[in-house]
Amino acid sequence: MENTLKKKSSFTGISRVPSGVFGLDDMIEGGFEKNSLNFICGETGSGKTLFAMQFAFFGAQKYNDNSILISLEETKEELRRRMGRFGFDLAALEASGKLLIYSYSPKEVNKFIEDLPQIEATIKKNKISRAAFDSLTTYALFFENPGRRNIEMLSLIDKFRKMECTVLMTSELKLTSKIVEAEEGITIEHLADSVISIYSIRKGDIRDLGLEVIKMRGTNHSRKIAPMRIVPTGMIVYPDMPFIK
Ligand SMILES: Nc1ncnc2c1ncn2[C@@H]1O[C@H](COP(=O)(O)OP(=O)(O)OP(=O)(O)O)[C@@H](O)[C@H]1O
Ligand SMILES: [Mg+2]
Repeated sequence: MENTLKKKSSFTGISRVPSGVFGLDDMIEGGFEKNSLNFICGETGSGKTLFAMQFAFFGAQKYNDNSILISLEETKEELRRRMGRFGFDLAALEASGKLLIYSYSPKEVNKFIEDLPQIEATIKKNKISRAAFDSLTTYALFFENPGRRNIEMLSLIDKFRKMECTVLMTSELKLTSKIVEAEEGITIEHLADSVISIYSIRKGDIRDLGLEVIKMRGTNHSRKIAPMRIVPTGMIVYPDMPFIK
């Protein structure tokens, strides 16, 4: 069975963690850096949850990594049903113990915060090496006070950074906007090791999806916006095809 630890970039010797999104790894020297913290940014409906799910699902199923998905947006049942349409049998992987799913409604962010120490302990105990968090935007929305919101966001990112895991966090806001809309307006992209942006661009009477690797520390990544499609088997990126013709 293919194992992440065996995937090393030929130049750097850095272990790579395949993304689980078909085609993307060819743009990033084989995958995310092991134990890095990565942001997936995109508009509503661009496919962030599907990306997070493929990272965790294929991580467990194809690459034998124990994986966790924390959702603040969809119930386990919704996720199982929606992902079932792409042929991803979440329940079977959950039953095997390779995939853990924690789900909270957007109003239950305080419960997630309460559970976090236990989640951190579970990650350690179960040797979980991939963690997907969906989404930073919902987490931020929970805090009315901008000052508190900043502190909570920074603290959450810091906690994920300290886990011995490759982490993927989704965010709805565009790269150019302030991720935290505080008065003093801080951005947090610089805190991530990589930022991938998904675009949904209207061309005539249809919308096309495109994916761009904005940055990936330590990686000679593609600088091209690649077309992306959501097909019956999941999300696919086409690194060699033109996005804007
Ligand atoms: N079975 C399917 N076949 C093809 N496309 C699908 C299928 N299911 C979902 N999609 C596409 O994927 C989009 C939703 O993807 P996803 O939920 O991952 O986006 P998101 O960025 O997380 O959205 P949100 O802002 O709601 O969190 C849908 O709007 C639809 O265009
Ligand atoms: Mg989503």
